[in-house]
Amino acid sequence: MKTSGTSKSQSYLLSDPEALAKEIARLGRQARTLLIHEWSAIEAFGIKDSRSILELGCGNSEYLGALGERFPNASLYGVDRNTDLLANARSRFPNTKYLMSDLIYSSEWMSFLEEVSPDLVVVRFVLQHMSGDEVQTFLASLVKHRKNGRIFLFEEPDDSKISIEPNDDEFRHLVRETGVLQASRGGDRTIGGHLKALLVNAGFGEVEEQWVDLGTQTLGVGNFFESLLPIWFSAIPSNVRREVGENMRARLQSRILSADDARIVFPVCLVSAA
Ligand SMILES: C[S@@+](CC[C@H](N)C(=O)[O-])C[C@H]1O[C@@H](n2cnc3c(N)ncnc32)[C@H](O)[C@@H]1O
Repeated sequence: MKTSGTSKSQSYLLSDPEALAKEIARLGRQARTLLIHEWSAIEAFGIKDSRSILELGCGNSEYLGALGERFPNASLYGVDRNTDLLANARSRFPNTKYLMSDLIYSSEWMSFLEEVSPDLVVVRFVLQHMSGDEVQTFLASLVKHRKNGRIFLFEEPDDSKISIEPNDDEFRHLVRETGVLQASRGGDRTIGGHLKALLVNAGFGEVEEQWVDLGTQTLGVGNFFESLLPIWFSAIPSNVRREVGENMRARLQSRILSADDARIVFPVCLVSAA
């Protein structure tokens, strides 16, 4: 399925091997650290032990693997367009079945979805890497696969809701620059704020939203700095990234550890739909 007039997003292509290796390590840390704090929202949606779970845009499958530990009776399936991430997933999780497919520019994933007939479909931190047209195209395809008893779980960030106490202009600037960079490649780091409306407009039903703060007070300063802070370092030019990143990490860490009410708040939106 090719869509004419759709601008193809270049966000999250990970063509540089060093960036790929770092991202594989970060995704692993992120999946396990964040799921612990997302869990009460997932339970509140009424998502129970599933027969089968399909993650669309599964990356190296660390999140799907972590979900599998929570739902030990479920068969796990993953789809992604990135061959390197899928190769890593296959070596780590040999019992999970994967398909390489682009969610916009191919239709194999839809036949796969029909074939494995999941009762839970997960789309996490993927829509933020698509252009507006691509999000509409993808959701218009996905909504056709609604089925009795099937739940769709989405999760996306909204960087416009990040706050830092005490204020830090350099960090704020970096967050803004990351948003500008991702937008220039076709993505949207504020998509969490309109996720629910996008799903309602696409025709999903029973759409429920929950916001979870995945900032320093929730994750702990060390976990936040390891799992999430590197996301915003992507806006630092690569030739000075290591040095500038390390300086910023050290400075933020000492500021945040210096007072009880010092914190970075990072709200992330989870939506369940049927
Ligand atoms: C930030 S990673 C998230 C991985 C995983 N969902 C997680 O939460 O750990 C985004 C993933 O979306 C995938 N992705 C983005 N656009 C895609 C598309 N059009 N088709 C298939 N996969 C896509 C990327 O390849 C990448 O693996």
